[in-house]
Amino acid sequence: MCGIVGIIGKENACEIILKGLERLEYRGYDSAGIYVANQETDHLVKAPGQLTNLAQKLTPEITGNIGIGHTRWATHGVPSEENAHPHLSQGGRFVLVHNGVIENHLELQETYLNGLALNGQTDTEIVVNVIETLSEKEHLSAFEAFKKALEEINGSYAFALIDTQDPTKLYIAKNKSPLLIGCGEDCYLVGSDAFAMIHETNRFIELKDGEIGILTPQQLWLEDADGQTIDRAAYTAEVEAADIEKGLYPYYMLKEIEEQPSVIRRLLQTYFDEQHQPIIDDTLIKQLLASERIYIVACGTSYHAGLATKATFEKLTQIPVEVHVASEFAYHQPLLAKEPFFIYLSQSGETADSRQVLVQTNELGAPSLTITNVPGSTLAREATYALSLVAGPEIAVASTKAYTSQVALMTILAYTLGQAKNNPLCSAFDIFHELELAATSMEEILYEKEALKIAAHDFLANQRNTFYIGRGNDYYVALEAALKLKEISYIQAEGFAAGELKHGTIALIEEATPVIGLITDEKTKAHTRGNLQEVKSRGAHVLVIVQANFAQDGDQVRLPVVHPYLTTLTSVVPTQLLAYYATLERGYDVDKPRNLAKSVTVE
Ligand code: AGP
Ligand code: GLU
Repeated sequence: MCGIVGIIGKENACEIILKGLERLEYRGYDSAGIYVANQETDHLVKAPGQLTNLAQKLTPEITGNIGIGHTRWATHGVPSEENAHPHLSQGGRFVLVHNGVIENHLELQETYLNGLALNGQTDTEIVVNVIETLSEKEHLSAFEAFKKALEEINGSYAFALIDTQDPTKLYIAKNKSPLLIGCGEDCYLVGSDAFAMIHETNRFIELKDGEIGILTPQQLWLEDADGQTIDRAAYTAEVEAADIEKGLYPYYMLKEIEEQPSVIRRLLQTYFDEQHQPIIDDTLIKQLLASERIYIVACGTSYHAGLATKATFEKLTQIPVEVHVASEFAYHQPLLAKEPFFIYLSQSGETADSRQVLVQTNELGAPSLTITNVPGSTLAREATYALSLVAGPEIAVASTKAYTSQVALMTILAYTLGQAKNNPLCSAFDIFHELELAATSMEEILYEKEALKIAAHDFLANQRNTFYIGRGNDYYVALEAALKLKEISYIQAEGFAAGELKHGTIALIEEATPVIGLITDEKTKAHTRGNLQEVKSRGAHVLVIVQANFAQDGDQVRLPVVHPYLTTLTSVVPTQLLAYYATLERGYDVDKPRNLAKSVTVE
């Protein structure tokens, strides 16, 4: 996935790049590097591990007025100093950073590099050497060699390239991986997202797939895949540098968990008028109403948010809804309804698996909506419609506030559709008021977080595996709870439909195995209790998270009562806190779990 930052035109390039990389560490953090230059000197510094390792190596003389930096999430080659970017060509002329995957890298190596020894195993190192070979053999300028190499490349990339013989220009190109241009004062920047550049500018220019550019301190030259010059206006982003600061919180994850009630309130301000009536684009509503079936496509936590809203969505809209994992849908498309509508749920709006499906459904001419936390993101731009989660930047790799915002916004959307259809269920559901209550309930759960810290210690911290169980929406929250726990604490955790346990998985229950039951549904509460009894009889250490009106003596975590359509908003909160505290106690980095990255821009 990787994060890229580049700048041309500022004397303190190194400092600016480092700051940008800090903001991009969510995209990858297994190694990092910076190249900076001016007319007289240049420096290439790399370090394995998190960015702090690189920062320690950056002495004051390492500076320049042009530079590129990278924080890596390895796809090709182990995380190591050799494989860290920027990559220098063997002849020493070109330096390149890359985000993406070059699918035909071995072919390129064979065709152009003639057995040339390389330092590491990355696809990127092959590309920088292909550029150098082309420039030498075919006597091409840096730009021509770069363009020619791009013609030969298959795959995804955001590239930033410097010609060390002429460090007065920064070359960039993009295909499928994100890259934005930042317009500073007498300087231009590039970055994987706006946050990486927000300390220098809030004016950005979008770069589209297949486009290529040259930046100098005062000028920007862009051309499309056919060589046509592009003149594109800059836009101003409403991101504040302060939004992405951690403040007094020890970790972003805790800050983001605690922000959830205010995110729900922000959704109310954004999507309702003064009479508390929903305000969502009329054409979007009409097109959704005309659809025969709705397909929600997403990955990971966003997929779980889709599952957690499916039942309510169907009830309120009376339109059938299917929820699909994007990476599966892309290659095994189900038989589609004649009038499908696609909803893409994606915090980042950059997830390659989801985008892959969007490209396909766009080819089919199917209408689509992206619900994302990043309004200018690729999925937002490429779908027919986009709605913002207004959750503010989510930095921790483990998604929390984006999930609850997705669930709430999907419910608002479903309500708007149901209301347009005069569904009596909508008249009986004061959604504005119920969401306000849900936000307050979330706050109440957060006040009790110390109890969850103790529960994390008693039930989880020293365990190797855990099961979350529930039925209906409680099952879907169980899936999300388990994902949250495993991705940051490394405890093997599984979410199960409570009734399924006895069909096999119960064989795994041993003395003291933690089983966490979720009970918020009137219809199935007795059944889930029965299943908890079954595992208890086999030695399980049972923790019950239950809505207060269904609680019994001995239940440990009681949730304030919310409307039945909104239980997935509240029941998820204690599970986020359990994951957070278990991870803290096990001594791992909550915000940057191993092997992961925030924005998954490879398939
Ligand atoms: C969530 O905690 C994960 N880090 C991950 O599953 C994430 O939700 C998934 O990669 C989808 O990302 P998106 O919402 O940005 O598309
Ligand atoms: N393929 C490059 C590498 O492994 C970039 C990885 C990425 O962007 O995810 O170094």
